[in-house]
Amino acid sequence: MQKLAQNSLIMMNKPNKPIFFNPYDCRNETEVESKFIVQYLLPALGYSPHNWHQEVALGSIRLDFLVFTKQILPYKFTKDSPLALIIEAKSPKHSLNRYTGKMEKYIRSLSVNYGVLTNGKDFRILAPKDKDIAIVFRCSGREVPDRLAEIKSLIGWAEVAQARMTTSSSAQIIDKNKENNVKIVPDLAVTPQPVPEFEPIVATEEKKMKTIAVYHNKGGVGKTTTVVNLGAALSKEGKRVLIIDLDSQANTTFAVGLVKFDDEADDTLKNCHVMHLLSSEDFFPIKQVAKTTNFSTPTVDVIPSHIDLMKAESDLNNIDHSRLVLIKKLLDVENDYDIVIIDTPPSLNLFARIALIAADYLIIPSDLKPFANQGLTNVKSLINEVNGFRKIIGKQPLQLLGVLATKISTNAKFREYTLPDRMQTVMKRYGIELMETIISEKEDLAKCSERTQTILDEKTSYIKEIPDPLSVIDFKPDSDSAKEFKQLAQEVLRKIA
Ligand SMILES: Nc1ncnc2c1ncn2[C@@H]1O[C@H](COP(=O)(O)OP(=O)(O)OP(=O)(O)O)[C@@H](O)[C@H]1O
Ligand SMILES: [Mg+2]
Repeated sequence: MQKLAQNSLIMMNKPNKPIFFNPYDCRNETEVESKFIVQYLLPALGYSPHNWHQEVALGSIRLDFLVFTKQILPYKFTKDSPLALIIEAKSPKHSLNRYTGKMEKYIRSLSVNYGVLTNGKDFRILAPKDKDIAIVFRCSGREVPDRLAEIKSLIGWAEVAQARMTTSSSAQIIDKNKENNVKIVPDLAVTPQPVPEFEPIVATEEKKMKTIAVYHNKGGVGKTTTVVNLGAALSKEGKRVLIIDLDSQANTTFAVGLVKFDDEADDTLKNCHVMHLLSSEDFFPIKQVAKTTNFSTPTVDVIPSHIDLMKAESDLNNIDHSRLVLIKKLLDVENDYDIVIIDTPPSLNLFARIALIAADYLIIPSDLKPFANQGLTNVKSLINEVNGFRKIIGKQPLQLLGVLATKISTNAKFREYTLPDRMQTVMKRYGIELMETIISEKEDLAKCSERTQTILDEKTSYIKEIPDPLSVIDFKPDSDSAKEFKQLAQEVLRKIA
């Protein structure tokens, strides 16, 4: 036992079930994360899986582990924020010296009390000290079990939670040359406080309004066509539908007939669109930004997009709560709509993330061609990242309604031989279910959105053509496309019931 204790980290996470950990078992960064941090260190320090989150991107910063003492909306990374600890795992092959500067930057910019940096062999805790960030504890991975009490006094769950409750943080400074000589820094002493409760920030009770994002990072696969026609089909089922266009190409905004102007001088959307909604916490509520449309009967409300949205991305990226504003504003209209459908850009950008964070469900339209299939890997990793964020804000993981086969050729041989193969590939290789409905490649779907109307321009007294798009169900109610979208609406209603 003596020998084992020297060579291994041991903990009991369940009675009679010891977990042994030898830091030298960690061959790479992933093993440092899983074997050392997740299986050994976090439980040994008193953390439960609710207290920490793995692989979280905060703007341009991507962190391996984050610990929050409580969850609040919106996040502001100040000294009073509940972000208490960040942990970065590195490969045992790399010296930690090359990462110390980066960790110092993270601690400073996130106003966090402590940062842990480890490659399994070397274990360091950093913390703010005066105007600098200092290494406040350091030992080898092998020594961690023997020095657990010291480590716990700095970054144990109860300790970090208490520290965040006080106006100043606690920190112990260690002289790197005399590692056993731990001394308390007096001006950073802690007043013991009760450990705060972990509060979910998003209402957890079953809500009536359901939000569906329609997303694939591959362009031209039929996202917008799906959003517009599914919206129309659901409104014909008696649902109160809101469509949100989160793509700066604004194709949905065009397809629902909100762009009636030729000249930008007549741009009626410029001052009130989805960018304004996302940019302001307190102004531009959904009720103000949503427009009534005529592309479908009964009518569907639409929050228009605009080319200006593109310019706003970097500004919005720097605002921590930009990812949460839509969720907050949707809460205000929960009694006004039954279903919200969000159109997304063909990208992995901020707006795609915002859509996936706000949504309850996801439909992934795909023409099932090779590039669209390969793109599913990106879609899956974005879903994983977004689910990490959703966990932090107390939101359930995004529910996949499946890959919706779109723009599928009606050629009989293709349907018989090639299509089943392509569908199998999606399920087997990417592990994503296909939806039952198939949207065929049909001219009607392009034609209905390109419809125009001839009117007399009162300003110029000339006759002119303006866009007058219709949903395919309003355009040709008995067409195959109309039937397919009605079937899709039924399938969606069944799956989100
Ligand atoms: N089932 C279909 N049959 C025929 N044409 C279709 C079908 N679905 C979409 N299209 C046409 O394909 C083009 C791309 O469709 P759509 O705009 O819906 O794709 P998207 O995924 O939203 O594209 P983007 O990624 O650029 O936003 C459009 O011209 C549209 O009219
Ligand atoms: Mg589109």
